[in-house]
Amino acid sequence: MIKGKFPIDKFEAIETPFYYYDIDLLRETLRAIRQQTENKNYLVHYALKANANPRILKEISSFGFGADCVSGNEILRAIECGFPASKIAFAGVGKTDKEIEIGIDHDIFCFNVESLPELDAIDHIASAKNKKVRVALRINPNVDPHTHEYITTGLNENKFGLNEKDLSEAVEKISRSLHLELIGIHFHIGSQITDLSAFENLCVKALEMQSWFNSRGIGLQIINLGGGLGINYQHPNHCPIADFESYFHLFAKYLKLKEGQSLHFELGRSVVAPCGSLITRTTYVKEGISKKFLIVDAGMTDLIRPALYHAFHHIENISSELPYTRYDVVGPICESSDTFGKNVELNESSRGDFIAIRSAGAYGEAMASQYNCRTLPASCFSDQI
Ligand code: LLP
Repeated sequence: MIKGKFPIDKFEAIETPFYYYDIDLLRETLRAIRQQTENKNYLVHYALKANANPRILKEISSFGFGADCVSGNEILRAIECGFPASKIAFAGVGKTDKEIEIGIDHDIFCFNVESLPELDAIDHIASAKNKKVRVALRINPNVDPHTHEYITTGLNENKFGLNEKDLSEAVEKISRSLHLELIGIHFHIGSQITDLSAFENLCVKALEMQSWFNSRGIGLQIINLGGGLGINYQHPNHCPIADFESYFHLFAKYLKLKEGQSLHFELGRSVVAPCGSLITRTTYVKEGISKKFLIVDAGMTDLIRPALYHAFHHIENISSELPYTRYDVVGPICESSDTFGKNVELNESSRGDFIAIRSAGAYGEAMASQYNCRTLPASCFSDQI
Protein backbone atom coordinates (compact mmCIF):
# COMPACT_ATOMS: atom_id res chain seq x y z
CA MET A 1 0.00 0.00 0.00
CA ILE A 2 1.44 3.40 -0.93
CA LYS A 3 1.36 5.92 1.88
CA GLY A 4 1.41 9.69 1.83
CA LYS A 5 4.68 11.51 2.48
CA PHE A 6 4.77 13.30 5.82
CA PRO A 7 7.65 14.97 7.71
CA ILE A 8 7.17 12.85 10.83
CA ASP A 9 10.32 14.06 12.53
CA LYS A 10 8.90 17.58 12.45
CA PHE A 11 5.53 16.39 13.71
CA GLU A 12 7.17 15.27 16.99
CA ALA A 13 7.24 18.86 18.24
CA ILE A 14 3.61 19.66 17.39
CA GLU A 15 0.72 19.04 19.73
CA THR A 16 -1.79 16.63 18.20
CA PRO A 17 -4.35 16.64 16.74
CA PHE A 18 -3.54 19.21 14.08
CA TYR A 19 -4.43 19.90 10.46
CA TYR A 20 -1.52 19.50 8.11
CA TYR A 21 -1.70 21.21 4.74
CA ASP A 22 0.53 20.22 1.84
CA ILE A 23 1.05 23.60 0.20
CA ASP A 24 2.77 22.13 -2.86
CA LEU A 25 -0.27 19.99 -3.57
CA LEU A 26 -2.59 22.95 -3.06
CA ARG A 27 -0.56 24.98 -5.57
CA GLU A 28 -0.48 22.09 -8.04
CA THR A 29 -4.25 21.85 -7.75
CA LEU A 30 -4.66 25.57 -8.29
CA ARG A 31 -2.40 25.43 -11.34
CA ALA A 32 -4.49 22.58 -12.73
CA ILE A 33 -7.65 24.66 -12.36
CA ARG A 34 -6.02 27.72 -13.86
CA GLN A 35 -4.80 25.71 -16.81
CA GLN A 36 -8.36 24.58 -17.58
CA THR A 37 -9.98 27.97 -17.13
CA GLU A 38 -7.53 30.56 -18.45
CA ASN A 39 -8.21 32.03 -21.86
CA LYS A 40 -11.85 31.08 -21.50
CA ASN A 41 -14.60 33.23 -20.11
CA TYR A 42 -14.60 31.10 -16.97
CA LEU A 43 -14.22 32.37 -13.42
CA VAL A 44 -13.85 30.08 -10.43
CA HIS A 45 -15.15 31.51 -7.18
CA TYR A 46 -13.57 29.39 -4.46
CA ALA A 47 -16.26 28.36 -1.93
CA LEU A 48 -14.89 29.59 1.42
CA LYS A 49 -17.19 27.32 3.36
CA ALA A 50 -14.90 24.39 2.50
CA ASN A 51 -11.95 25.94 4.30
CA ALA A 52 -11.55 29.56 5.35
CA ASN A 53 -8.10 29.28 6.90
CA PRO A 54 -6.37 32.61 6.04
CA ARG A 55 -3.16 31.00 4.79
CA ILE A 56 -5.13 28.74 2.44
CA LEU A 57 -7.25 31.66 1.27
CA LYS A 58 -4.18 33.77 0.51
CA GLU A 59 -2.76 31.00 -1.66
CA ILE A 60 -6.01 30.67 -3.56
CA SER A 61 -6.57 34.39 -4.04
CA SER A 62 -2.99 34.78 -5.31
CA PHE A 63 -4.01 32.68 -8.33
CA GLY A 64 -6.59 35.29 -9.28
CA PHE A 65 -9.68 33.25 -8.41
CA GLY A 66 -12.84 34.79 -7.02
CA ALA A 67 -14.71 33.82 -3.85
CA ASP A 68 -18.09 32.32 -3.11
CA CYS A 69 -19.29 33.44 0.32
CA VAL A 70 -22.31 32.45 2.37
CA SER A 71 -22.09 34.90 5.25
CA GLY A 72 -21.10 38.49 5.92
CA ASN A 73 -18.09 37.25 7.84
CA GLU A 74 -16.97 35.13 4.91
CA ILE A 75 -17.12 38.23 2.71
CA LEU A 76 -14.95 40.13 5.18
CA ARG A 77 -12.53 37.19 5.51
CA ALA A 78 -12.27 36.84 1.73
CA ILE A 79 -11.47 40.52 1.30
CA GLU A 80 -8.89 40.42 4.13
CA CYS A 81 -7.22 37.48 2.42
CA GLY A 82 -6.83 39.14 -0.94
CA PHE A 83 -9.95 38.31 -2.94
CA PRO A 84 -11.14 41.43 -4.77
CA ALA A 85 -14.74 42.34 -3.88
CA SER A 86 -15.39 42.52 -7.62
CA LYS A 87 -14.98 38.72 -7.72
CA ILE A 88 -17.12 37.84 -4.70
CA ALA A 89 -20.47 36.10 -5.13
CA PHE A 90 -22.72 35.98 -2.08
CA ALA A 91 -25.09 33.01 -1.75
CA GLY A 92 -27.23 31.71 1.10
CA VAL A 93 -30.93 31.30 1.86
CA GLY A 94 -30.94 33.44 4.97
CA LYS A 95 -28.90 36.57 4.30
CA THR A 96 -29.61 39.00 7.13
CA ASP A 97 -29.95 42.75 6.63
CA LYS A 98 -26.55 43.24 8.21
CA GLU A 99 -24.96 40.76 5.81
CA ILE A 100 -26.70 42.31 2.81
CA GLU A 101 -25.29 45.66 3.90
CA ILE A 102 -21.78 44.22 4.07
CA GLY A 103 -22.15 42.94 0.52
CA ILE A 104 -23.53 46.22 -0.78
CA ASP A 105 -21.03 48.40 1.08
CA HIS A 106 -18.16 46.42 -0.44
CA ASP A 107 -19.73 46.51 -3.88
CA ILE A 108 -19.35 42.77 -4.37
CA PHE A 109 -19.70 41.14 -7.76
CA CYS A 110 -23.11 39.63 -7.26
CA PHE A 111 -25.81 38.39 -4.87
CA ASN A 112 -27.09 34.89 -5.65
CA VAL A 113 -30.71 35.39 -4.67
CA GLU A 114 -32.63 32.42 -3.31
CA SER A 115 -36.18 33.68 -2.64
CA LEU A 116 -38.68 36.41 -3.52
CA PRO A 117 -38.59 38.01 -0.04
CA GLU A 118 -34.80 38.16 -0.26
CA LEU A 119 -35.13 40.18 -3.49
CA ASP A 120 -37.38 42.64 -1.61
CA ALA A 121 -34.90 42.92 1.25
CA ILE A 122 -31.95 43.60 -1.06
CA ASP A 123 -34.00 46.11 -3.05
CA HIS A 124 -35.01 47.91 0.13
CA ILE A 125 -31.49 48.12 1.54
CA ALA A 126 -29.96 49.09 -1.82
CA SER A 127 -32.56 51.79 -2.23
CA ALA A 128 -31.78 53.26 1.24
CA LYS A 129 -28.13 53.40 0.21
CA ASN A 130 -28.98 54.62 -3.26
CA LYS A 131 -26.93 51.81 -4.78
CA LYS A 132 -27.55 49.46 -7.68
CA VAL A 133 -26.91 45.81 -6.87
CA ARG A 134 -26.13 42.98 -9.28
CA VAL A 135 -28.16 39.86 -8.69
CA ALA A 136 -28.25 36.35 -10.14
CA LEU A 137 -31.29 34.18 -9.54
CA ARG A 138 -30.53 30.84 -7.96
CA ILE A 139 -32.78 28.37 -9.68
CA ASN A 140 -33.57 24.94 -8.41
CA PRO A 141 -32.80 22.79 -11.44
CA ASN A 142 -34.29 19.58 -10.05
CA VAL A 143 -31.24 17.62 -11.16
CA ASP A 144 -30.30 14.64 -9.00
CA PRO A 145 -26.56 14.64 -8.28
CA HIS A 146 -26.61 11.04 -6.91
CA THR A 147 -24.76 11.95 -3.76
CA HIS A 148 -25.52 11.89 -0.02
CA GLU A 149 -28.99 13.28 0.80
CA TYR A 150 -27.51 15.84 3.23
CA ILE A 151 -25.42 17.37 0.46
CA THR A 152 -28.04 17.21 -2.28
CA THR A 153 -29.34 20.69 -2.86
CA GLY A 154 -30.83 21.04 -6.33
CA LEU A 155 -33.99 18.94 -6.05
CA ASN A 156 -37.40 20.59 -6.28
CA GLU A 157 -38.66 20.76 -2.70
CA ASN A 158 -35.60 22.12 -1.03
CA LYS A 159 -34.85 25.18 1.08
CA PHE A 160 -32.38 26.41 -1.53
CA GLY A 161 -33.06 28.46 -4.63
CA LEU A 162 -36.13 29.63 -6.50
CA ASN A 163 -38.58 27.24 -8.08
CA GLU A 164 -39.48 27.87 -11.68
CA LYS A 165 -42.98 28.96 -10.71
CA ASP A 166 -41.46 32.01 -8.94
CA LEU A 167 -39.26 33.15 -11.80
CA SER A 168 -41.74 35.44 -13.57
CA GLU A 169 -42.43 37.28 -10.36
CA ALA A 170 -38.71 37.56 -9.61
CA VAL A 171 -38.04 38.99 -13.04
CA GLU A 172 -40.89 41.50 -12.65
CA LYS A 173 -39.64 42.64 -9.26
CA ILE A 174 -36.18 43.23 -10.67
CA SER A 175 -37.42 45.09 -13.73
CA ARG A 176 -39.57 47.36 -11.53
CA SER A 177 -36.65 48.15 -9.23
CA LEU A 178 -34.19 50.98 -9.79
CA HIS A 179 -31.72 49.29 -7.49
CA LEU A 180 -31.46 45.76 -8.83
CA GLU A 181 -29.76 44.57 -11.98
CA LEU A 182 -30.28 41.02 -13.18
CA ILE A 183 -26.96 39.70 -14.47
CA GLY A 184 -27.63 36.01 -14.67
CA ILE A 185 -28.64 32.70 -13.18
CA HIS A 186 -27.11 30.45 -10.57
CA PHE A 187 -27.38 26.73 -9.81
CA HIS A 188 -25.83 24.34 -7.34
CA ILE A 189 -26.96 20.73 -7.42
CA GLY A 190 -24.97 19.18 -4.61
CA SER A 191 -21.54 18.21 -3.45
CA GLN A 192 -19.04 15.33 -3.81
CA ILE A 193 -20.39 14.55 -7.28
CA THR A 194 -18.31 11.92 -9.01
CA ASP A 195 -20.75 10.94 -11.74
CA LEU A 196 -20.15 13.79 -14.18
CA SER A 197 -23.35 13.03 -16.07
CA ALA A 198 -25.15 15.00 -13.36
CA PHE A 199 -23.32 18.10 -14.67
CA GLU A 200 -24.38 17.23 -18.22
CA ASN A 201 -27.99 17.29 -17.02
CA LEU A 202 -27.28 20.60 -15.34
CA CYS A 203 -26.05 22.04 -18.66
CA VAL A 204 -29.26 20.95 -20.37
CA LYS A 205 -31.25 22.65 -17.65
CA ALA A 206 -29.12 25.80 -17.77
CA LEU A 207 -29.68 26.11 -21.54
CA GLU A 208 -33.40 25.54 -21.08
CA MET A 209 -33.51 28.31 -18.47
CA GLN A 210 -31.44 30.58 -20.67
CA SER A 211 -34.04 30.21 -23.45
CA TRP A 212 -36.77 31.06 -20.95
CA PHE A 213 -35.04 34.35 -20.16
CA ASN A 214 -34.12 35.10 -23.77
CA SER A 215 -37.70 34.59 -24.89
CA ARG A 216 -38.63 37.40 -22.49
CA GLY A 217 -36.00 39.67 -23.99
CA ILE A 218 -33.55 39.16 -21.14
CA GLY A 219 -29.92 38.35 -21.91
CA LEU A 220 -27.77 36.65 -19.31
CA GLN A 221 -24.25 37.95 -18.72
CA ILE A 222 -23.38 35.08 -16.44
CA ILE A 223 -24.31 31.49 -15.80
CA ASN A 224 -23.06 30.28 -12.45
CA LEU A 225 -22.99 26.50 -12.16
CA GLY A 226 -22.10 26.30 -8.48
CA GLY A 227 -19.68 23.72 -7.11
CA GLY A 228 -19.89 20.04 -6.41
CA LEU A 229 -17.00 18.33 -8.19
CA GLY A 230 -16.05 15.34 -6.06
CA ILE A 231 -12.64 13.97 -5.14
CA ASN A 232 -11.31 10.46 -4.73
CA TYR A 233 -11.47 9.81 -0.98
CA GLN A 234 -10.55 6.14 -1.46
CA HIS A 235 -7.17 6.68 -3.10
CA PRO A 236 -5.67 10.01 -2.04
CA ASN A 237 -2.16 8.89 -3.01
CA HIS A 238 -3.06 7.71 -6.52
CA CYS A 239 -5.48 10.52 -7.36
CA PRO A 240 -4.45 13.61 -5.43
CA ILE A 241 -5.99 16.06 -7.91
CA ALA A 242 -9.61 16.03 -9.06
CA ASP A 243 -10.34 15.53 -12.72
CA PHE A 244 -10.65 19.20 -13.61
CA GLU A 245 -9.93 18.48 -17.25
CA SER A 246 -13.02 16.33 -17.76
CA TYR A 247 -15.09 18.64 -15.59
CA PHE A 248 -14.35 21.85 -17.48
CA HIS A 249 -14.36 20.12 -20.89
CA LEU A 250 -17.86 18.95 -20.18
CA PHE A 251 -19.08 22.51 -19.77
CA ALA A 252 -17.17 23.65 -22.85
CA LYS A 253 -18.89 20.88 -24.79
CA TYR A 254 -22.43 21.27 -23.52
CA LEU A 255 -22.66 24.98 -22.76
CA LYS A 256 -21.68 27.14 -25.68
CA LEU A 257 -21.37 30.70 -24.49
CA LYS A 258 -22.98 33.64 -26.19
CA GLU A 259 -21.01 36.77 -27.03
CA GLY A 260 -19.81 38.51 -23.86
CA GLN A 261 -21.14 35.80 -21.58
CA SER A 262 -19.13 34.16 -18.81
CA LEU A 263 -19.41 30.89 -16.91
CA HIS A 264 -18.85 30.90 -13.18
CA PHE A 265 -18.05 28.02 -10.87
CA GLU A 266 -18.01 27.72 -7.11
CA LEU A 267 -15.61 24.91 -6.36
CA GLY A 268 -14.81 24.19 -2.74
CA ARG A 269 -13.99 20.58 -1.90
CA SER A 270 -12.06 19.77 -5.05
CA VAL A 271 -9.75 22.74 -4.42
CA VAL A 272 -8.78 22.06 -0.82
CA ALA A 273 -9.80 18.57 0.33
CA PRO A 274 -6.78 16.59 -0.93
CA CYS A 275 -4.11 18.90 0.48
CA GLY A 276 -5.27 18.58 4.10
CA SER A 277 -4.80 15.73 6.58
CA LEU A 278 -5.87 15.51 10.16
CA ILE A 279 -2.82 14.28 12.06
CA THR A 280 -3.56 12.53 15.31
CA ARG A 281 -1.73 10.25 17.72
CA THR A 282 -2.82 6.90 19.05
CA THR A 283 -3.74 7.28 22.68
CA TYR A 284 -4.59 3.65 23.33
CA VAL A 285 -4.91 0.38 21.49
CA LYS A 286 -7.80 -1.40 23.12
CA GLU A 287 -8.57 -5.07 22.59
CA GLY A 288 -12.32 -5.62 22.31
CA ILE A 289 -13.99 -9.03 22.21
CA SER A 290 -13.70 -9.67 18.51
CA LYS A 291 -12.02 -6.49 17.30
CA LYS A 292 -9.38 -3.97 18.19
CA PHE A 293 -9.98 -0.30 18.73
CA LEU A 294 -7.47 2.38 17.94
CA ILE A 295 -8.37 5.28 20.17
CA VAL A 296 -6.86 8.46 18.77
CA ASP A 297 -6.66 11.97 20.16
CA ALA A 298 -8.67 13.53 17.31
CA GLY A 299 -12.43 13.33 17.46
CA MET A 300 -15.55 14.13 15.50
CA THR A 301 -15.09 17.69 16.74
CA ASP A 302 -12.07 18.00 14.43
CA LEU A 303 -13.52 16.17 11.43
CA ILE A 304 -17.24 15.61 11.62
CA ARG A 305 -17.75 14.14 8.14
CA PRO A 306 -17.64 10.43 9.09
CA ALA A 307 -20.08 10.99 11.97
CA LEU A 308 -22.41 13.26 10.06
CA TYR A 309 -22.46 11.73 6.57
CA HIS A 310 -20.90 8.30 7.13
CA ALA A 311 -18.17 9.71 4.94
CA PHE A 312 -15.14 7.63 4.13
CA HIS A 313 -11.66 9.03 4.80
CA HIS A 314 -8.54 7.03 4.04
CA ILE A 315 -6.54 6.43 7.23
CA GLU A 316 -2.85 5.58 7.51
CA ASN A 317 -0.48 4.81 10.36
CA ILE A 318 2.47 6.90 9.24
CA SER A 319 4.76 5.79 12.10
CA SER A 320 4.58 2.03 11.66
CA GLU A 321 5.84 -0.36 9.01
CA LEU A 322 4.66 -3.45 10.89
CA PRO A 323 2.31 -5.94 9.18
CA TYR A 324 -1.23 -4.85 8.45
CA THR A 325 -4.08 -5.65 10.79
CA ARG A 326 -7.57 -4.21 11.32
CA TYR A 327 -8.89 -1.65 13.78
CA ASP A 328 -11.92 0.48 14.42
CA VAL A 329 -10.44 3.96 14.57
CA VAL A 330 -12.33 6.01 17.13
CA GLY A 331 -12.05 9.34 18.91
CA PRO A 332 -12.39 10.27 22.57
CA ILE A 333 -15.76 12.06 22.34
CA CYS A 334 -18.73 10.72 24.30
CA GLU A 335 -20.74 9.73 21.22
CA SER A 336 -20.71 6.37 19.49
CA SER A 337 -20.74 8.15 16.16
CA ASP A 338 -17.27 9.43 17.04
CA THR A 339 -15.72 6.86 14.73
CA PHE A 340 -13.39 7.68 11.84
CA GLY A 341 -13.49 4.25 10.27
CA LYS A 342 -14.49 0.68 11.02
CA ASN A 343 -12.38 -2.35 10.28
CA VAL A 344 -9.64 -0.17 8.83
CA GLU A 345 -6.53 -1.90 7.54
CA LEU A 346 -3.55 -0.31 9.28
CA ASN A 347 0.00 -1.24 10.12
CA GLU A 348 0.09 -2.71 13.61
CA SER A 349 -0.12 0.29 15.86
CA SER A 350 1.07 1.31 19.29
CA ARG A 351 0.45 4.15 21.68
CA GLY A 352 1.99 7.37 20.38
CA ASP A 353 1.95 6.43 16.66
CA PHE A 354 0.98 9.16 14.23
CA ILE A 355 -2.19 8.46 12.28
CA ALA A 356 -3.06 10.53 9.19
CA ILE A 357 -6.73 10.93 8.30
CA ARG A 358 -6.54 11.99 4.70
CA SER A 359 -8.49 14.35 2.43
CA ALA A 360 -9.52 16.46 5.40
CA GLY A 361 -8.76 19.84 3.83
CA ALA A 362 -12.40 20.52 2.97
CA TYR A 363 -15.14 20.68 5.61
CA GLY A 364 -12.67 19.55 8.28
CA GLU A 365 -11.21 22.60 10.00
CA ALA A 366 -14.17 24.65 8.71
CA MET A 367 -16.68 22.49 10.60
CA ALA A 368 -14.68 21.98 13.79
CA SER A 369 -16.38 22.50 17.12
CA GLN A 370 -15.36 22.70 20.76
CA TYR A 371 -17.84 20.10 22.01
CA ASN A 372 -16.54 18.54 25.25
CA CYS A 373 -14.57 21.78 25.85
CA ARG A 374 -11.97 20.60 23.40
CA THR A 375 -9.23 22.87 22.08
CA LEU A 376 -9.47 23.59 18.36
CA PRO A 377 -6.55 21.93 16.56
CA ALA A 378 -3.75 24.09 15.19
CA SER A 379 -3.08 24.23 11.45
CA CYS A 380 0.40 23.57 10.08
CA PHE A 381 1.68 24.12 6.59
CA SER A 382 4.23 21.97 4.80
CA ASP A 383 6.43 24.97 3.98
CA GLN A 384 6.40 26.41 7.49
CA ILE A 385 7.27 23.57 9.83
N1 LLP B 1 -21.88 26.69 -4.03
C1 LLP B 1 -22.92 26.49 -3.21
C2 LLP B 1 -24.13 27.29 -3.41
C3 LLP B 1 -22.85 25.52 -2.20
O1 LLP B 1 -23.90 25.31 -1.40
C4 LLP B 1 -21.67 24.74 -2.05
C5 LLP B 1 -21.56 23.73 -0.99
C6 LLP B 1 -20.60 25.00 -2.91
C7 LLP B 1 -20.75 25.97 -3.90
C8 LLP B 1 -19.30 24.24 -2.83
O2 LLP B 1 -19.50 22.92 -3.16
P1 LLP B 1 -18.27 21.89 -3.28
O3 LLP B 1 -17.47 22.25 -4.51
O4 LLP B 1 -17.44 22.00 -2.04
O5 LLP B 1 -18.92 20.59 -3.41
N2 LLP B 1 -20.14 19.72 4.57
C9 LLP B 1 -20.43 18.85 3.45
C10 LLP B 1 -20.53 19.61 2.14
C11 LLP B 1 -21.55 20.71 2.16
C12 LLP B 1 -21.59 21.47 0.87
C13 LLP B 1 -22.45 22.66 0.98
N3 LLP B 1 -22.48 23.49 -0.18
C14 LLP B 1 -19.36 17.76 3.40
O6 LLP B 1 -18.48 17.74 4.24
O7 LLP B 1 -19.42 16.89 2.53
